[in-house]
Amino acid sequence: MNVLVLGSGGREHAIAWKIRQSPLCTNLFVMPGNPGCGQISTLISGSPKDFSAVKEAVVNNHIEIVVVGPEEPLVLGLRDYFEADEELKRVLFVGPGKEGARLEGSKEFAKEFMQKYSIPTAAFKSFSSETIAEADRFLESLKAPYVLKADGLAAGKGVVIPNEIEKAKEELRSMLSGKFGSASSRVVIEQFLKGIEVSVFVLTDGKDYLVLPEAKDYKRIGDGDTGLNTGGMGAVSPVPFVTEEFMGKVRSRIIEPTLKGLQNEGIDYKGFIFLGLMNCGGDPYVIEYNVRMGDPETEAVMTRIDSDFLSHLVACAKGELKNETIEISEENALTVVCVSGGYPESYRKGMKISGDILIRENTFSGKVMIFHSGTSINGEGELVTSGGRVFAVTANGSYLSESDIQKIEDGRQAAYDKVEKISFEGKNFRKDIGLDIIRYIKES
Ligand code: AMP
Ligand code: GLY
Repeated sequence: MNVLVLGSGGREHAIAWKIRQSPLCTNLFVMPGNPGCGQISTLISGSPKDFSAVKEAVVNNHIEIVVVGPEEPLVLGLRDYFEADEELKRVLFVGPGKEGARLEGSKEFAKEFMQKYSIPTAAFKSFSSETIAEADRFLESLKAPYVLKADGLAAGKGVVIPNEIEKAKEELRSMLSGKFGSASSRVVIEQFLKGIEVSVFVLTDGKDYLVLPEAKDYKRIGDGDTGLNTGGMGAVSPVPFVTEEFMGKVRSRIIEPTLKGLQNEGIDYKGFIFLGLMNCGGDPYVIEYNVRMGDPETEAVMTRIDSDFLSHLVACAKGELKNETIEISEENALTVVCVSGGYPESYRKGMKISGDILIRENTFSGKVMIFHSGTSINGEGELVTSGGRVFAVTANGSYLSESDIQKIEDGRQAAYDKVEKISFEGKNFRKDIGLDIIRYIKES
């Protein structure tokens, strides 16, 4: 099959890498991709948000299946565009339409959906600038800390959690008056949930579903979960508290009611659902829905899928997931993200990257993998930084040790060894990926 993956990050590199291993894959294209993707696929320039450019890429390259990485093209209606086009409507497509993408595109829609279908989530109310007084009263009825969320897409930055009520009221006003542009013209205020977070990934055709390996990501910039929020500084998979019992609750209380709810709303959902969950004393609550895979979780998750991922994607797009089973490796995966100095605030680009970062697929041993995100090739043909998150290193493999702790320690050793061998000016990364999991295993 001719496959097109849309997007340019480490997530898309990991998805492309996994698809490349499928015997069903004849030609693989990524638009726009990055130099890492370029080693395993043909890159097509252009933005996935430019629908006519996507169409041109699909038609010119006889693409048979499109897999969408980021949420934005979906929220903008790329699937709907394909369905309405005579030439495109026969092309298989993984990703929900505009209506389904509202699960991520509007926090208010998502919260109301969960409420309607009794899916466990934090108590909430949403407000606009006309209802500030009501919002203040709602804040006063809650206990600190206070969770305020911009309704719309805000590049992962639209959530603020102040500790004091006065700060919360100030924040509310700043959001409503455009702190996150039109995304925060409505604000969702919700109860603070205390617990450990985990990301669960579902691939669904709207009726049946596969659960991909779960992962934990590390959102803050600093060790010990300190400092500013980022897109994600690392990931581990599996997550020890995600037991069969916990997953049973996730299926019966969250995944299945979500699919029934979508059907009930007349939404034909074919694609990924990423559940951001909070484990509150053994019970899962939904923090957020995303309509895509997570980054950097995908860079860990893909390395643990043993079955044919492209076959799952084709079945998803055709509505035939009922016949698929996913095989998940027992191995551990641990991902460390290297970022530009200054990120998530301002940072410099164009720093030369040295070290063995361009690993060709046929030389990959299966132990350590490098997924590119913010890299590019400059005018002199050198590999340079071009973004905040520059690359992710994932280590896994069949460690000889039987002990879970030793497996994580081995993963840390292998990942950090590789991280040390690649350098660029200002390189920054967290040193504590996986340590909390080791602590958790020791304590439980
Ligand atoms: P979101 O963009 O909705 O995932 O929120 C970003 C982050 O804020 C989450 O990953 C959580 O760490 C935190 N968060 C969001 N909602 C809550 C909540 N109700 N209680 C506690 N933490 C939350
Ligand atoms: N790592 C979290 C996300 O992709 O939203």
